[in-house]
Amino acid sequence: MRISHSVEEWLRCRSAINGESIGFVPTMGALHTGHASLIERCRKESDIAVVSIFINPLQFNDPKDLERYPQTLDQDLSLLERLGVEEVFIPPAVEIYPPGCRYYVDELSTAAHMEGLHRPGFFRGVMTVVLKLLNLVRADRAYFGEKDYQQLRVISGMASDFFIPTEIVACSTVRQASGLAESSRNSLLSCDARRKAACIHRALTTASTSAAAQAMLEDDGFKVEYVEEHWGRRFAAVFLEGVRLIDNVPLPPGLES
Ligand code: PAF
Repeated sequence: MRISHSVEEWLRCRSAINGESIGFVPTMGALHTGHASLIERCRKESDIAVVSIFINPLQFNDPKDLERYPQTLDQDLSLLERLGVEEVFIPPAVEIYPPGCRYYVDELSTAAHMEGLHRPGFFRGVMTVVLKLLNLVRADRAYFGEKDYQQLRVISGMASDFFIPTEIVACSTVRQASGLAESSRNSLLSCDARRKAACIHRALTTASTSAAAQAMLEDDGFKVEYVEEHWGRRFAAVFLEGVRLIDNVPLPPGLES
């Protein structure tokens, strides 16, 4: 497994790849079984699997959230090695955002509500870094989880609008047996809270309306930021022990819009 710690190093590795198909999984580290499933699929469908690890400061509107974002680089690298990843790209922030950088990507429709509304600047940060990474990696396919469904839509739209030749591949959410969606943020929860967090999936899949799902979550002690329905899916963002968790599911049968 080769690790590039700078853009220059990565571009040298990239130029040595000729004629082999490239799959790309961008991450912010703190890897879990959700990432592992993206990487396994990426490996199956490509000759060379590239994984980036970059905690993107531009997508954190709350500096405290950035500060406490889990960082587990040694564990991440062991997992990537076990998964058989060929290339890891860990760019320094100063090369992704050089001093004085002033170009950003914005989207004004899909990104305007839910995560975009409650985390101002989040999608600008995500789209800007993903565009840079897609241009640097020049992969055939890039893999994104449906757990961040709104992000996936915004990125697919950007890729299509900017004629990016990389195919954006959507991958199903990986859940624990309890229904809890795998997320790097789960590691910030106590054992009790992790058990309780399974209620999010239950509320989203069993309530007859989004208002009923919100009421169920509030009764269970969650601070609810939103429960909304879009694109035939139901979405929620909640706080538990001060940790912000999001999830979404296809609308229960009979309720599809
Ligand atoms: O989903 C994530 O981990 C991040 O938003 C991404 C796509 C790696 C961009 O920083």
